[in-house]
Amino acid sequence: MLNIDSLSMKYGKKQILNAVSFSVKPGEIVGLVGENGAGKSTMLKILATLLNPTAGSIKLNHDTYKQSRKKVRKQIGFVPQDIALWDEFSVEENMVFFERLAWKHKNRQELRQLCLDMKLEKWKEPVKALSGGMKRKLNLAISLIHDPSLLLLDEPTVGIDLKSRKEIGAYLSDLAKKNDKIVLYTSHDMDEIINLCDHVYCVGNDPFYQQVLQEAGKETIKL
Ligand SMILES: Nc1ncnc2c1ncn2[C@@H]1O[C@H](COP(=O)(O)OP(=O)(O)OP(=O)(O)O)[C@@H](O)[C@H]1O
Ligand SMILES: [Mg+2]
Repeated sequence: MLNIDSLSMKYGKKQILNAVSFSVKPGEIVGLVGENGAGKSTMLKILATLLNPTAGSIKLNHDTYKQSRKKVRKQIGFVPQDIALWDEFSVEENMVFFERLAWKHKNRQELRQLCLDMKLEKWKEPVKALSGGMKRKLNLAISLIHDPSLLLLDEPTVGIDLKSRKEIGAYLSDLAKKNDKIVLYTSHDMDEIINLCDHVYCVGNDPFYQQVLQEAGKETIKL
């Protein structure tokens, strides 16, 4: 269970998040939507422990972020908005590199399987020769090496063709439901959000996203 309580964030004097509270249960996929600059990435970075909020508290499965930062960190998988991979190295080498940094260990076969699970068949190819969609899949596979209970994905499907988007969506859905993981992700693709998410939260003050989703029959909550 993820509990977010009265979370606020300011950059200097600029208020980005204002006393945001919500909870996410294991097995749920939550979508964060909102205009450019609304604060979606800021929210995910705070949840990934990469940024400290100005106020408020967060708890993941009985551990509070302030008091048990290290323990919390081990339970988190994060895919940033900008792809972070070693371009000159192969898919295999990237997986092995990040596996060495991970606190839980997996052998090469298990690492390969993780890629195959999300339909990333390339293994020996250098990352620079992969398409944008394949790189996103690899980033996602890397974030899962240590088997996190909370998965935070910042626009995991941006610029990806429909088939790969569906594959990633199906994978995430399966992962959340079968393994009781919490998935929080951002996207500008409203069809995908409608299909995939159990709950949708609108970040920022622009009512546009909320209106679009409500017209499509999807209930949303404004943060
Ligand atoms: N390190 C920073 N210092 C100051 N301002 C920042 C910083 N990072 C982000 N901001 C500002 O905070 C606001 C929210 O940014 P954020 O990246 O969270 O938005 P977003 O909802 O993810 O947007 P997008 O849809 O474009 O990815 C923006 O106005 C941005 O300019
Ligand atoms: Mg962003």
